[in-house]
Amino acid sequence: MLFDLHPKETPESLYGRDNDLKDILTHLRNRRWICLLGPRMVGKTSLVKAAQTKLNKSHINSIYINLWTVDSLRGLLDGILTALSESKGLFSKVKKELSHISALTIGPVGISVKEGAKPVSLSWQILSAIGKHAKKLVIILDEMQELSSVSAHIHKLLANVHSTFPDISFCFTGSQSGLIKALLSPVPDSPLYGRSPVAMNISPFDTETAREFLINGFREHRRKIGADEIEKVLERFGGIPGWLTLYGNCVVVSRMSHRNALQKCERETSKTTRQTLEHYLEGRNREQHLLAMRAIALRSSWSQIRQAIETNTGKQLNDARIKKIIDALSDTFIIQKQGSTYEVIDPVIRRFLLSGKMK
Ligand SMILES: Nc1ncnc2c1ncn2[C@@H]1O[C@H](COP(=O)(O)OP(=O)(O)OP(=O)(O)O)[C@@H](O)[C@H]1O
Ligand SMILES: [Mg+2]
Repeated sequence: MLFDLHPKETPESLYGRDNDLKDILTHLRNRRWICLLGPRMVGKTSLVKAAQTKLNKSHINSIYINLWTVDSLRGLLDGILTALSESKGLFSKVKKELSHISALTIGPVGISVKEGAKPVSLSWQILSAIGKHAKKLVIILDEMQELSSVSAHIHKLLANVHSTFPDISFCFTGSQSGLIKALLSPVPDSPLYGRSPVAMNISPFDTETAREFLINGFREHRRKIGADEIEKVLERFGGIPGWLTLYGNCVVVSRMSHRNALQKCERETSKTTRQTLEHYLEGRNREQHLLAMRAIALRSSWSQIRQAIETNTGKQLNDARIKKIIDALSDTFIIQKQGSTYEVIDPVIRRFLLSGKMK
């Protein structure tokens, strides 16, 4: 069902992403590492989960780890262990090898880590155990940017896997944080130099695809959506599949009127947007980044962005500082450059910024 709110898990339930899915599978079957990049709610998790289903059908093992708000190596380690114990086939293949790792306890309900274990060396031991016994394995790390604070360890771990176990491939998703940038374009002295993953940008649906998505979603429920309603939804939510799905779900599952569905979506999307922006602002100069975002919500050139920040803060900023702010916003897929101006990609984020609700 297209309007199911969970990430889609099968190729059949994914709309309009045949080419992306084909590319992902081709790369992974050829043991290339890949990185899916894109704004929130664009369908990254759905794509990797659908790819996982396809891989499983062709007997390629895969594990999926969601790293959202995981910012430590211990968190990554726990994610690997949970995914491993959930993947019955793979677990049974590597169970014996894992039982030789002294820092692990393997019980009837899963695997646990003994007190005092070091997450980096233990992660490496586990990956080595898997690498030796799993013929081909794809490890999906969803929301990879969350591990940015432990980048250096992650780079070493990944470089070791890359050079020791060619049958393990990684599929990352996320926004272009420092960590992902460094993975995609490693500097010469990085342990990952010459081993960068293929970057794939996942874009919102274009207007026609978004329109067809709505029509098809309604058709699945033997319902029709009026042309005016479609245009209103597209104007509000653009081509972001997650928002279109939410709207459709409100109408066909929760049986709301078009008007009520729009209102409910506005509230829900505002909540998610607040979280997204708060998460983005963590550890950043809140005032400067918010001023830049608000200026860009009105479409602004470089000099208009600078002016907005300088006028409101009473401080002069050099070019490097402005560039840093614009780069961070672009890398997180909040904004994009169109000709000589910058704009906010997601109409929901744009409206939220202009509403003044974000202080
Ligand atoms: N191509 C698609 N076809 C059908 N539904 C989709 C598609 N892409 C996304 N969706 C729906 O949109 C919503 C968001 O999708 P998903 O969670 O995969 O996006 P995401 O990019 O991983 O989001 P986030 O940034 O929050 O992690 C889900 O309800 C999902 O079912
Ligand atoms: Mg996701």
